Amino acid sequence: MKFFLDTADLDEIKEAASWGAIAGVTTNPSLYMRVGGTLDGFHDHIKRICELVDGPVSAETVATDREGIIREGRELADLAPNVVVKVPTMVEGLAATRALTDQGVRVNMTLCFTVPQAILAARAGARYVSPFIGRFDDISEDGLEQVGNIIAALGNYDFTGCSVGDEGVEVIAASIRSANHVAQAALMGCDIATVPFNVLKKCVEHPLTDRGLERFLADWEKVKNA
Ligand code: E4P
Repeated sequence: MKFFLDTADLDEIKEAASWGAIAGVTTNPSLYMRVGGTLDGFHDHIKRICELVDGPVSAETVATDREGIIREGRELADLAPNVVVKVPTMVEGLAATRALTDQGVRVNMTLCFTVPQAILAARAGARYVSPFIGRFDDISEDGLEQVGNIIAALGNYDFTGCSVGDEGVEVIAASIRSANHVAQAALMGCDIATVPFNVLKKCVEHPLTDRGLERFLADWEKVKNA
């Protein structure tokens, strides 16, 4: 499973990229708003992220009609070769995804919650589909179970030939709130998990690692003083 970082924060991206384990970034309008983003600064901000990350960077469209999504998607795709255009899973989004894909633009279909949505996204040419775990949990449903169903269903079929460059479709586990979400997504064979920076840090940490390191360092002091 690959790790993407789910943020628009340049410092977080720089720091996580330096760890050497991040393969891409996903952003959305809320994440951009949280870093104090402005309308005029949006394209430059996405360009900065694309310079920091050696991998796909998802930038989201905000139009709700197909022509608008296609126009915004083309503008975003022109910013950098590693831009992936994020499009909501809805009728207008499907039509725009097919049009963008036919023009060679990679699409990440977002706000995906069900198996039929995921299959339609893949058939429309999405390079990535992003089922949301945490938001299902928020309404007392099992987000992990839904992601598992989507992985299993997509695995029944061959989607090469649908997306740009015949690359098929990859599932991005999104709306991740905990290291356990990451672990379960990996056990299900999810292609990618996009994680907020605080969750990524939690994925690295374990109390037994801390305790073990303390003991090794204490024993090394004894070796030095022997
Ligand atoms: C995915 O691409 C989304 O940006 C993100 O994972 C949404 O997460 P949230 O439900 O925590 O806002």
